[in-house]
Amino acid sequence: MNERARPETVGHSLENSAFFMPFSMNRQFKKAPRLVSRAEGIHYYTPEGRKIIDGTSGLWCVNAGHCRPAIAEGVAKGVATLDFAPPFQLGHPLAFEFADKIAALAPEGLSKVFFTNSGSESVETALKLALAYHRVRGEGHRTRLIGRERGYHGVNFGGTAVGGIVGNRKIFGALLAGVDHMRHTHDLARNAFSKGEPQHGAELADDLERLCQLHDPSTIAAVIVEPVACSTGVLVPPVGYLKRLREICDRHGILLIFDEVITAWGRLGEPFAALRFKVTPDLITTAKGITNGTVPMGAVFMKEALYQAFQTGPDTAIEMPHGYTYSAHPVACAAGLATLGLYQRDGLLTRARDMAGYWEDAVHSLKGLPHVIDLRNYGLIAGIELAPIAGRPTARAYEVFLKCFERGILIRTTGDIIALSPPLIIERKHIDQLFGTLSEVLRTL
Ligand SMILES: Cc1ncc(COP(=O)(O)O)c(C=O)c1O
Repeated sequence: MNERARPETVGHSLENSAFFMPFSMNRQFKKAPRLVSRAEGIHYYTPEGRKIIDGTSGLWCVNAGHCRPAIAEGVAKGVATLDFAPPFQLGHPLAFEFADKIAALAPEGLSKVFFTNSGSESVETALKLALAYHRVRGEGHRTRLIGRERGYHGVNFGGTAVGGIVGNRKIFGALLAGVDHMRHTHDLARNAFSKGEPQHGAELADDLERLCQLHDPSTIAAVIVEPVACSTGVLVPPVGYLKRLREICDRHGILLIFDEVITAWGRLGEPFAALRFKVTPDLITTAKGITNGTVPMGAVFMKEALYQAFQTGPDTAIEMPHGYTYSAHPVACAAGLATLGLYQRDGLLTRARDMAGYWEDAVHSLKGLPHVIDLRNYGLIAGIELAPIAGRPTARAYEVFLKCFERGILIRTTGDIIALSPPLIIERKHIDQLFGTLSEVLRTL
């Protein structure tokens, strides 16, 4: 047996560990690891027993807080009852029950659900559904996909191609053909320190019209955007922007996909951002909070017409040649049902609305601290943008991240932006502690 460092062994070196960590600075991390070995409610605990407030819901996913007994019990019962069932040409009751329950929460008309195992797979599924939908309706000329600069849609080929974060794309070659990007909506000059939706920028949606004219709209299958672009540093859509995108898509027969992998499941105070912004897309991609991060799962919601478009061939033919071994995995469905039950019992899908005022005040209390050039918030999300150190982009925010972790709070950074998204069970006292510590750290810079 190959004896390697065991992470639970405090002080044991991880430098030669086999684990290639995703989206991490492997060499730096393995020299000075930050480990958590237990979690409960709003807190992580390190192997040494230090208590850390989770300001990021893990990775934007543990919306109900950590290690909730109702979910743990649901998962335990699920895995002991039906460990696996093939999802192709066979079913199990939990898949149908879960799909029906979550479809009932979706914006009106998005009545069908396709299960995946992650946000990235939800995005690939939605893009393929969009292309196939046009094809089966005799509009196979619609092959282009439009994303947006600074968008994040996961790491598979389609999602990387429609994504707009340069660092995530540049070493992976040409990606997909026929993809273009609208401009992003970040506008510090006009919108810095906005509370909620920024006032300026609805007209930026007209960049889609420009791309329609450039490529001919009849070649475009779908447009994909995050209602709030979170991974790039919390860009809240300007007032009226999403509505305008919807209008342009309608004018040209283009499908609109909202990537709600982060914004669904109560993050903005409604089950879906589409409900909060009152703009209904044709497809919604989700993952993360669908099982409170416990068991990998994703789901794509689609309008009834999309589903029906595939139901026209001979009934001896498979309608959609797409799916994963683990689509609608019974343990994931058990986790999802238990999570949904907890969300509904504790009112978590709308709690962000009640907490948003207190949260907003706390976020904007950082105004005037050194290097803070923007503060933005919506629901229970915040972005804190710092001026970069000349010639050392990302270094300033990373220093804040390290200092915060030492002082007992977990934040996330992307570039020189701090992103916060605490579990939806957060109380005022935790918000005070989170921003108290953050403000102390910012003053040390
Ligand atoms: C909007 C969006 N789409 C897709 C993804 C990818 O999800 P996953 O990491 O589960 O593949 C993410 C992850 O953060 C996301 O924020």
